[in-house]
Amino acid sequence: MKQLLTNYYKLLTSLSLSMDFCAHGLMRHHQRVALMSLQIGKLYGLDSQRLGNLFTAAILHDAGSSTWVEKDLLFEFLIGEASEHCKNGYKLFKDHPLFSPIAEIILYHHDRWDGVNNASKRMGNQIPIESRIIHLADRVDVLLNESIYILEQKKSICRRINGESWGLFDPHLVEAFNDISNRECFWLDLHSPFLTDILSHHCPINAKELGYKEVLSVADTMSKVIDFKSPFTRRHSTGVANVASFLAAKADCSEHDKRIIRVAGLLHDLGKLGVPEKILDKPGKLTDEEYNIMKKHTYYTYHILNMIEGFEEINHYASCHHETLNGMGYPFKLDAVDLKNGARIIAVADIFTALTETRPYRDAMEKEKVIKILTNKVKSGAIDSELTSLLLANYDDAHHVSESNQFI
Ligand SMILES: [Fe+2]
Ligand SMILES: [Fe+2]
Ligand SMILES: [Fe+2]
Repeated sequence: MKQLLTNYYKLLTSLSLSMDFCAHGLMRHHQRVALMSLQIGKLYGLDSQRLGNLFTAAILHDAGSSTWVEKDLLFEFLIGEASEHCKNGYKLFKDHPLFSPIAEIILYHHDRWDGVNNASKRMGNQIPIESRIIHLADRVDVLLNESIYILEQKKSICRRINGESWGLFDPHLVEAFNDISNRECFWLDLHSPFLTDILSHHCPINAKELGYKEVLSVADTMSKVIDFKSPFTRRHSTGVANVASFLAAKADCSEHDKRIIRVAGLLHDLGKLGVPEKILDKPGKLTDEEYNIMKKHTYYTYHILNMIEGFEEINHYASCHHETLNGMGYPFKLDAVDLKNGARIIAVADIFTALTETRPYRDAMEKEKVIKILTNKVKSGAIDSELTSLLLANYDDAHHVSESNQFI
């Protein structure tokens, strides 16, 4: 069987971009926080294993916050209440095969050094050092202003950070920050077009490779981040992944294809993190303008997955789920000549799963109506006729797997 091998660093830095989307655009917040954290951690004397965990925690630190409304609040320098996304992140990671060592780091990453109002009731050295480092780097990042030349901001940011030494921040880390931030390159790196490459040189685990099982566990976590964006899609990505692998098995796909179809199903709506929730949760029909914004989501899915080596087929399967065989879909206007079987499977699984779920503007549909809509889509030349017949012939089983929390 063909192997799926992916570089850990590339996978996480690319996926982190989907968590950066907010009302301000695409921020690269996670990559900058990771870069600053690694530099401070090195100067502080953390060994390479702890630096590896620090990288992973920093590149994923706000995974517990999926909505733009919540992310906006995190951009205030003095955050009122931040514990919700810390707890959500902790829950996402605590039992994860790769990420369990970072769960506690994430839980405390907004804790103040002086302990004032910390939900954890911890203070000072009781807070993990990695959390204290990420906290400082994270607050430096929210002070950055994209529209002002970076070296012009150095003085005011340093003043603000030093003003919070012993209060918000560990004074030893503020000293380390003062040491590093004295170099122009520290600041130039943060607004550099070469940021991802610079970060890789600082990352002690930039050569680590992952196999299929590990990639699946990362995709599974990301699917939860995606689905938490809207209360109406809490299980959508898992549902699509389950129906797609069920259909792939019925269609006698190879073991390799079945595996990557599952990963593609989990990640197909990654780009929805780039769409405001007021559109995703709208309790009515979208206007043309809103629909046009919605269309960006598969474009974003494509470009984020496109940065990950070894993900070429996964990307095609995932990001073409709104393309149609008659060339009327979006965003690439592909057609039957271009659309491979895996992409056709995800497209059918996505429509089936969506129709059988409750949406803000309608209830979950009954079997008869779902069959009618899918049949009409085949007639109009949008979706694959054989795959749709196969799904409808196994309707009840497919519906059951779409609602299962277990991987089938
Ligand atoms: Fe945070
Ligand atoms: Fe953050
Ligand atoms: Fe979609």
